[in-house]
Amino acid sequence: MKQRVLTGITTTGTPHLGNYVGAIRPAVAASRRDDVESFYFLADLHALVKCDEPARVQRSRLLIAASWLAAGLDPNIVTLYRQSDVPETTELAWILGCVTAKGLMNRAHAYKAAVDRNNAVGEDVDAGISMGLFGYPVLMTADILLFNAHLVPVGRDQLQHLEMARDIAARFNRVFGSGDGPFVLPQGQTDEDADTLPGLDGRKMSKSYDNVIALFEGGPSQLRKSIRRIVTDSRVPGEPKDAEGSQLYAIYRAFADEAQTSAFRRALEEGLAWGKAKEQLFELVEAELAPMRERYDELIANPGEVEEILREGAARARDVAAPLMREVRRGVGLGT
Ligand code: TRP
Repeated sequence: MKQRVLTGITTTGTPHLGNYVGAIRPAVAASRRDDVESFYFLADLHALVKCDEPARVQRSRLLIAASWLAAGLDPNIVTLYRQSDVPETTELAWILGCVTAKGLMNRAHAYKAAVDRNNAVGEDVDAGISMGLFGYPVLMTADILLFNAHLVPVGRDQLQHLEMARDIAARFNRVFGSGDGPFVLPQGQTDEDADTLPGLDGRKMSKSYDNVIALFEGGPSQLRKSIRRIVTDSRVPGEPKDAEGSQLYAIYRAFADEAQTSAFRRALEEGLAWGKAKEQLFELVEAELAPMRERYDELIANPGEVEEILREGAARARDVAAPLMREVRRGVGLGT
């Protein structure tokens, strides 16, 4: 049996170069291996936890689906779907919630951080905390268990949720199953040496630091403009630069082969002007992104095409989930 790999992408915001290098590019490469069966989904129900602007939820979903498709995710190889198109997810989340200890959820990092923030400012501990935020790990567990995924590639901040998913699966198996079924205990996987890309200011590229370079949005002119805003030191043209210490070099390296990287490094150490270095970085990144952006623009102009792909993906996903859901319903005494 093939390894089943599943991951969800929360549909908030627009993808940036850090998402591309750290998540999209490696995931697309991994999905092409023939010893795995991959499931990728747009976690739009999770997006509701953080966002109450319907137009943004909807737009962001399109931008993110188009970005992954344009970056090479092949919906004929991968089951690509939208979480909210698979209603079994929320049904399973409810059933799992009934075997999940509240105390387990109390320990979730995101919830604890919200409580700590409230305490720090002298607010009521529960101020601004929805049941959606509190129960977030149960919904995520349902996403994973519904497909009996073996491996779940996630960022390090999500590993705790994978531990919770294993706990919940084991408890369900013990109470309602055979002990080692119906659920597979999923394994979280973080790529230790996946590049985390620095942003304009040298801190990790992240929307919350406002230091990102957009992946496709804004086209080449926006890309060039953003690259020009990368912070450098004040060494003048001709003065040797410290390549290792500069985010410009780190970003270059993420797009270059070894020969290009060492040539660029040498040029910097021999005094290449920052302005020229930025132009070279732009050329390099643009060469990789341009063909993808063409496809991206096409998809954004034809949202119906994206819809069709997602609908087909959801139909396939539901077929896979159906037998397991029947077993779960029967197991707890629902259904027939
Ligand atoms: N919570 C994940 C994140 O913020 C997204 C997600 C939702 C997910 N459901 C999932 C990831 C299931 C892996 C598996 O990154």
